[in-house]
Parts: sequence; C-alpha cells; structure tokens
Amino acid sequence: MAKITYVEYDGTEHVVDVPVGTSVMKGAIGNNIPGIDAECGGNRSCATCHIHGGVQWRDKVEEAKEAEQALLEYADGVDEDSRLSCQILVTAELDGLVVTMPESQG
Ligand code: FES
Repeated sequence: MAKITYVEYDGTEHVVDVPVGTSVMKGAIGNNIPGIDAECGGNRSCATCHIHGGVQWRDKVEEAKEAEQALLEYADGVDEDSRLSCQILVTAELDGLVVTMPESQG
C-alpha cells in the first residue's frame, strides 16, 4: 500500500491507501474521489484523469510516454507537472505522494 493524497481544485484533501500495482487513477475511482472521472477507463484516450503530480516525485515515476504526452496537449491547465493518473503505477516508493486536480476537473 502507498498513502496518496488527492487534492481537489478547491483544496479538499482525500488521503487514502492505494494498493501497489494499481494506478493512481484507480486509487481515486476506487475511493470515490471527485475530480478524476477517467471516462475511458484507463485507455489513454480521455485525459479526464489529468493530475499535477508534484515535481519532487519525478525520479520515482516512470516518464510519460509519447502517447501520454500527445494526449495531454488536449487537456486544460497543463503544465510541466501534468500527468495522466491512469498511466502512473503505484509503487511502495510513492508512499506519501500528493496529487492535485486541475481547475477543469473541479
Ligand atoms: Fe482516460 Fe486516463 S482514464 S486517459
């Protein structure tokens, strides 16, 4: 398990334990956390699972593949810290991760 804090755009925090091996997106869906709709179910085609992941975690998360980067170009509020949460696999190293949702998913 890894403890992950999901922060809605309005600042509401949800701290949950997410099983290792699942995705950050599924951790949100499984805990009914608002702000991550994941309309495509993790097939990397909707970008409704967009999060800001925390620059400090970059060395612990696999880099975004080209297809993820391409889809993020169509999401709102994208910055250098943006990721698709369906593409981030939870590892024990991610214990303590804090992710925030963009305004468009508020
Ligand atoms: Fe659709 Fe992540 S759930 S792109």
